[in-house]
Amino acid sequence: MYRSRIRSTGSYLPEKKLTNQDIEKMVDTTAEWIYERTGIKERRIAAPNEVTSDFCVEAAKLALQRANMTPHDIDMIIVATVTGDHVMPSTACMVQAKLGCRPIFAFDLSAACTGFVYSLSIADQFIKTGFYKNILVIGAEVLSRIVNYKDRNTCILFGDGAGCAIITRAEEHEDSQIFSSHLYADGLLGHLLELPAGGSKLPISQEVLEQELQYINMKGKEIFKNAVRTLVECAETALKTNNIPLEQVDWLVPHQANMRITEAVIKHFGIPTEKVVSTIDYTGNTSGASIPIALDHAITDGRIKRGQLILLSAFGAGLTSGSSLLRY
Ligand SMILES: CC(C)(COP(=O)(O)OP(=O)(O)OC[C@H]1O[C@@H](n2cnc3c(N)ncnc32)[C@H](O)[C@@H]1OP(=O)(O)O)[C@@H](O)C(=O)NCCC(=O)NCCS
Repeated sequence: MYRSRIRSTGSYLPEKKLTNQDIEKMVDTTAEWIYERTGIKERRIAAPNEVTSDFCVEAAKLALQRANMTPHDIDMIIVATVTGDHVMPSTACMVQAKLGCRPIFAFDLSAACTGFVYSLSIADQFIKTGFYKNILVIGAEVLSRIVNYKDRNTCILFGDGAGCAIITRAEEHEDSQIFSSHLYADGLLGHLLELPAGGSKLPISQEVLEQELQYINMKGKEIFKNAVRTLVECAETALKTNNIPLEQVDWLVPHQANMRITEAVIKHFGIPTEKVVSTIDYTGNTSGASIPIALDHAITDGRIKRGQLILLSAFGAGLTSGSSLLRY
């Protein structure tokens, strides 16, 4: 068995900012209410001509450059997204073509906000078995296309962006590695966060559009409770499996959903806030992109250093949840 490690990361945020003050003008809310309840001040929104694969390509180019690699070195692409360019073909195929990669294995993965952790785990398996050497794992979303900007429960939360990591086979002498991932799903709670229409159950029709069922529908309070519970459980499982006490973890990188959710996790563990990466104030919730953006920003600004222990913990629609413990 081989070991895998994060070789490099990259991310992309579109230029346009949507501030809480902008949202004040769209729905019955205040900038203060949004900040107090979510920790979000602004989020980024795709330009009308930008699509998810464009975000992926921008993030991937950075990661390739930082790894001193070319698109030809990539053996496989996974794009974690719920807002792909199309239902088919997959966004990963668009990325393969736009980057100019060989005709490699490329697919999208649908696990909403847990998508990056799910994808990281799949990449890890393909490297462990020796099947592939270099895998591009991307989380990317243009959630602004499925958010109802008349619904104050949801439009305050979500933003657009992409983050990625190149996962590579670790050499014998390298101690960087992914130790383990732990992935879960509970479909009985799927109704708490869903996109009701646009799939085989409810195809787009005039009636669907009139009822605005093509947008995200969320039971915020229930999601909140389940988020805190699963983030904690997944993080605990990763630590227990690897017999590593929390004190040894240098950075917790949780899914960026809401600062109050992160604070509840911090309180549960008694972990210093300085050891928790947060981008929520300027990105909002970017679903599958949230963890790789947070990871990339903390690596590029020098907070996360080689050799440090990183714990990723995520939850999302599904309900899905998962964690990964790794040494960067
Ligand atoms: C959405 C969320 C911020 C709402 O905060 P909350 O403290 O739970 O607020 P409540 O739902 O209790 O709502 C309190 C009141 O504020 C109102 N309200 C909701 N959104 C509002 C807004 N943007 N501005 C002002 N008032 C708002 C509600 O309608 C409610 O009014 P009511 O009591 O008259 O019905 C919070 O539930 C949340 O973040 N949940 C998790 C969502 C999430 O992370 N989703 C993604 C998962 S990957």
